[in-house]
Amino acid sequence: MSVKQSLIELPLDLDQQRIPAHVAVIMDGNGRWAKNRGFPRIIGHQKGVDALKDLLRCCDDWGIKVLTAYAFSTENWGRPAHEVEFLMTLFERVLRRELEEMMTENVKIRFIGDLTVLPSSLQAQISHSMEKTANNKGIQFNIATNYGSRQEILHACHAIASLVKDNQIQLDDINEELFENHLYTNGLVNPDLLIRTSGEMRLSNFLLWQMAYGEIYVTQTLWPDFNREQFHQALLDYQMRDRRFGKLN
Ligand code: FPP
Repeated sequence: MSVKQSLIELPLDLDQQRIPAHVAVIMDGNGRWAKNRGFPRIIGHQKGVDALKDLLRCCDDWGIKVLTAYAFSTENWGRPAHEVEFLMTLFERVLRRELEEMMTENVKIRFIGDLTVLPSSLQAQISHSMEKTANNKGIQFNIATNYGSRQEILHACHAIASLVKDNQIQLDDINEELFENHLYTNGLVNPDLLIRTSGEMRLSNFLLWQMAYGEIYVTQTLWPDFNREQFHQALLDYQMRDRRFGKLN
């Protein structure tokens, strides 16, 4: 993405200087979207992929540097086995199908979450996608898969405790920066804006640490219907917020 392109495509009522650096999204409502149309739930997930692709392209066009999408939570294993299997296969198929286009569009892919328990063919496709796009300089696209914030925080605690135990760091070395460096999102700015579709007002174990001062935008729209215009509205709302980070202006 070039700066010129983002200047051309950004809606005139959005302030280029106040575009969030990092947008996170909870893509909720796929099942309801399908049910409302008399389709099986998996059709909603399929449609959800199209909405995610459009959002990624839109973020790129409008100068957003990082997009993080919640694709599968540590709790989602509790869904019916056929839905879980469908989602795993969908992730793998989409990754394989879209990789060349991601390369053309300079997208850098990172999967966040405990990937070790995913099907091995999906793990291989994930590693391949991350390696292949590692040097891309465009938008950073994070896909949270088997992600749970509590699990991520515990994982960081274990890693840090091991460093202390092995005398590689001292207790006093533990600070916010060191802690963040052990989260799956290490090296990334924290989200400025989290969008949740389908009207639910909770974080659902997503980016609990990272969202300490992130703005939350909830829309009634079901995920497969979330489009550029809806995103535009979310950004307009975000740009009205007075972000004080606990201080006074
Ligand atoms: C939540 O809607 C959605 C999910 C658990 C799956 C989201 C996954 C995608 C959109 C596919 C993304 C693909 C890639 C390759 C990253 P829900 O099923 O909970 O909807 P409901 O609340 O209406 O039942």
